Amino acid sequence: MSTAPSPVPMHFDAERAEVYDKQFAAMQPIKEAAHLLIEIQFGGLPADARILIAGAGTGAEARYLAARFPGWRFTLIDPSARMLNVARRHAEAEGFAERCTFLADYVSGAPLEAHDAATSLLVSHFLTETGARQSFFADIAARLKPGGLLFNLDLCADRQAATFPEALDLWLGLMRQSGVPKEMRAGWVSSFGRVFGVHGPSELEALIAAAGFTPPAPVFQAAMMRGWTAVRT
Ligand SMILES: C[S@@+](CC[C@H](N)C(=O)[O-])C[C@H]1O[C@@H](n2cnc3c(N)ncnc32)[C@H](O)[C@@H]1O
Repeated sequence: MSTAPSPVPMHFDAERAEVYDKQFAAMQPIKEAAHLLIEIQFGGLPADARILIAGAGTGAEARYLAARFPGWRFTLIDPSARMLNVARRHAEAEGFAERCTFLADYVSGAPLEAHDAATSLLVSHFLTETGARQSFFADIAARLKPGGLLFNLDLCADRQAATFPEALDLWLGLMRQSGVPKEMRAGWVSSFGRVFGVHGPSELEALIAAAGFTPPAPVFQAAMMRGWTAVRT
């Protein structure tokens, strides 16, 4: 299945790309915990594995994995050429650019090459349309070998849950500690569930499974961030 992808969120422009790595610095340990889980999940792959990094941004996942698995090759795909430029700079500085293919495109635009595993970190919550979000995962599945691995991380919460305000408070505390100004935090609250993060955890799990994966295993949560592992069927 493949529908027309959503346009690139406007905020991943040149200005945002240059500051992205420094923003939300207080949340970096949480992202690193997710990277560690990916390292463990993917750890049994062959020494020459090929990894698809969907919504690669400035290349955080590739940087982490390239340093630990010297034979792996990476396909970094992201519709924001500006974000990918920063990723390429990092890869060149860290000496693994020759193991990377950089594609400024949506996943649907990537060649149908069989990867051993894929990551999608903090990407699919921008897809508000149910069909587009399922297509995003189907486009990833189509570029994985049968049995290929997926790690997905998104901002996702059950907004109807009685515990939601408590989790939200913790998230806003993280944003405050990262230096996000009050009005931006208020903007985040009014956008969550409307402009992004529209689907709750069980809806998202169903979308991933329907896109060609095993029912995703919920393996990670830190306030509003949730992570799942799944296997291409
Ligand atoms: C919050 S950044 C995350 C970057 C990186 N994965 C990380 O964890 O640091 C989200 C990225 O997703 C990209 N993106 C947005 N919509 C996308 C889509 N439909 N398909 C692929 N990437 C998309 C944006 O351009 C941006 O670079």
